[in-house]
Amino acid sequence: MPQTLLNYINGRWAASRSDASLERENPAIGEAICSFADSGPEDVAAAVEAAAQAHQTWRFVPAPRRAEILFRAAEIMASRKEELSRDVTIEMGKVLKEARGDVQEGIDMSYYVAGEGRRMWGQTTPSELPNKLNMTMRQPHGIVAAITPWNFPMAIPCWKLMPALVTGNTAVFKPSPFSPLSAYNLVRILEEAGLPPGVVNLVFGGDQTGAALVEEPRVNMVSFTGSLEVGREIAAYCGRYNKRLHLEMGGKNAIIILDDADIDLAIEGAVWSAFGTSGQRCTAASRMIVHERVAGVFGDGLVARAAALRLGNGLEAMTDVGPVVSRPALEKIERYMEIGRDEGAAVACGGSRASGDGLDQGYFFQPTVFTDVRPQMRVAQEEIFGPVTDIIRCSDLEEAVAINNGVQYGLSSAIYTRDISKAFKAMERISTGIVYINAGTIGAEVHLPFGGTRGTGNGHREAGQAALDSYSEWKTVYIDYSGQLQKAQIDRPEGEA
Ligand code: UN1
Repeated sequence: MPQTLLNYINGRWAASRSDASLERENPAIGEAICSFADSGPEDVAAAVEAAAQAHQTWRFVPAPRRAEILFRAAEIMASRKEELSRDVTIEMGKVLKEARGDVQEGIDMSYYVAGEGRRMWGQTTPSELPNKLNMTMRQPHGIVAAITPWNFPMAIPCWKLMPALVTGNTAVFKPSPFSPLSAYNLVRILEEAGLPPGVVNLVFGGDQTGAALVEEPRVNMVSFTGSLEVGREIAAYCGRYNKRLHLEMGGKNAIIILDDADIDLAIEGAVWSAFGTSGQRCTAASRMIVHERVAGVFGDGLVARAAALRLGNGLEAMTDVGPVVSRPALEKIERYMEIGRDEGAAVACGGSRASGDGLDQGYFFQPTVFTDVRPQMRVAQEEIFGPVTDIIRCSDLEEAVAINNGVQYGLSSAIYTRDISKAFKAMERISTGIVYINAGTIGAEVHLPFGGTRGTGNGHREAGQAALDSYSEWKTVYIDYSGQLQKAQIDRPEGEA
């Protein structure tokens, strides 16, 4: 019997008030793992009510004390890393080694943010008037809705919840219905770490649950990672009601390979960036922009490596690439094969579902390389979110940068070159939020800002110090100890205009 996961509201594991429920299956073998509520507006309202109550006390808990709880959560996560990682693999399919990376990213984020509890600096600055001090301090938004995807089911909830909590917000967490188990595991850990009731509340559900949460009038801030379509709808709503918003949406990330690059290194980076997590990272490299002089040798090498990747259950040590997340995801990737062929792209390897050898019950797609791709084709513009990448030829750095920047997304880019001048020029001209030199497009570290330009985001960043800016607002404080009425801009020293 699959396990039933309960919502967590005001410190209690509680059945949903909605009759509807959802199931999650293991995408490698198609077997049910767990069921959980498709929560309705009543559940959302109860969770928000709990968060509102808890905020009255949590915001006054000193930040270093709040941080101690997050530190303990990191300790528990680290002690359970292996079982947490297995659950990640079981529910969303990535190979165990990568699942461990996902959990490690959550641990790193929690430790990093716990440190911020003792470092949440503002500014102090001289006043233009005597006997007066000016300073800034952070204040929480209030109630944060954290709506998270399934592709990093431990890391991304930690990216959102930890900085939201350390800055004094309370939260309602709505994970993807494709990764309920990791969400449940994380909230249990926060509970064990001593988080007071109501500070984090968990409501399971699908899009309707997410919409109810965004539209709950008491939710002050929404942090969403997911698709561009859903993100835009959330942005429209938040714009209308002036809610704070952090968005992290898609990518159509590229690796530029110049003719002076270390080609073997570039191939390594390309394989990892295109096919890691079965291509289901928003930072995945789905375009290779290759100088025409090395396009042949690079393409041959990439295709040989892609064709040799072993598909399978991510729990098995021999597996290089796991399944994609669901049947609809598989079907979407298949549709893009048609689209690419119709546009005139050639399939150099892969191009269809993988079957046989224990793959038939799961959602496996062969690692695929499209060649003869032109920059304006749909397969070179739209996010496919699967193990599919394109080879686009270019004739110099300038053209490569223009192709790189010529998509609606702006998350991550990479360039392979041995020429330091070209590397620096690329760094300056590439317009994405993240740039890698001589490394692939994935592998962002938690103490630096993470996020994208254009259609990828809305200007906010996760991770690093920048996360504190997303989850808090500045309060500016003027302290006048002159004992007199002093008028800024008006009271100027004698004799001055
Ligand atoms: C994502 O795909 O949404 O840089 C996040 C990386 C990871 C995070 C990816 N550290 O690929």
